[in-house]
Amino acid sequence: MFEFGKLRFRPIEREDLKLLHEWENDFELIMYSRSKPMNFVNTAQLEKQYDEWVKDEKELRFMVELIDSEDPIGIARLRREEWGNVKTADVGTYIGKKELWGKGFGRQIIVALLEMSFNQLNMERSEAWSVEYNHRAHKALEACGFKRGGVVRQAAFVNGRKWDGYHFDILREEYLNTRRGLLKQTLGDKAEEYAEKHCTIKGY
Ligand SMILES: CC(C)(COP(=O)(O)OP(=O)(O)OC[C@H]1O[C@@H](n2cnc3c(N)ncnc32)[C@H](O)[C@@H]1OP(=O)(O)O)[C@@H](O)C(=O)NCCC(=O)NCCS
Repeated sequence: MFEFGKLRFRPIEREDLKLLHEWENDFELIMYSRSKPMNFVNTAQLEKQYDEWVKDEKELRFMVELIDSEDPIGIARLRREEWGNVKTADVGTYIGKKELWGKGFGRQIIVALLEMSFNQLNMERSEAWSVEYNHRAHKALEACGFKRGGVVRQAAFVNGRKWDGYHFDILREEYLNTRRGLLKQTLGDKAEEYAEKHCTIKGY
């Protein structure tokens, strides 16, 4: 388990599939997270996907829950890639509890994924993809230090038109340079406690 602020990142268990069935079939949630809102999945398809995840050692998949109540609020993923001999963490998340959008949890999840990437898994860079209309995600990613780089033109067809896909990335040294501020912003007065447990670099 990985704990960050109010959030715990734990493995996704087979028992979680019932909740995933609800989230993965939510038109609006999937429209933002994967730009293919009609991608409905039934229980048997989800179980088949789950069996594939279990075998996939490159990808870490987490249920994100509130530590206090143990209520799951969403999922997060981190895929270890080494294209071009540079260790890269491809990260993604969605908050399935839509009433919690826009309350800062997304930023907390993204910084937690960066902590895992750079402070635990020794990655050199991290990247994320998002669709043109997902302004909330772009703001959250940029607030955590991701920079928008490439644009894949007309990559998604949703709600009657084509949209571009945006690629975001952040390098290890860029993250380390802003880490202190990001931990303070996302953890508040718990930043020092976290730093004591997880930061071996002086001044982190
Ligand atoms: C994207 C997501 C993870 C972000 O998490 P979140 O908790 O909602 O985001 P945060 O509250 O941390 O930050 C959102 C930022 O967007 C801003 N925002 C909120 N609603 C917005 C909107 N409709 N348009 C533009 N910006 C918006 C907020 O003010 C905040 O910016 P600020 O920190 O400068 O104030 C979450 O909204 C989500 O799960 N969305 C659906 C799935 C998805 O898009 N997944 C990501 C795919 S790349």
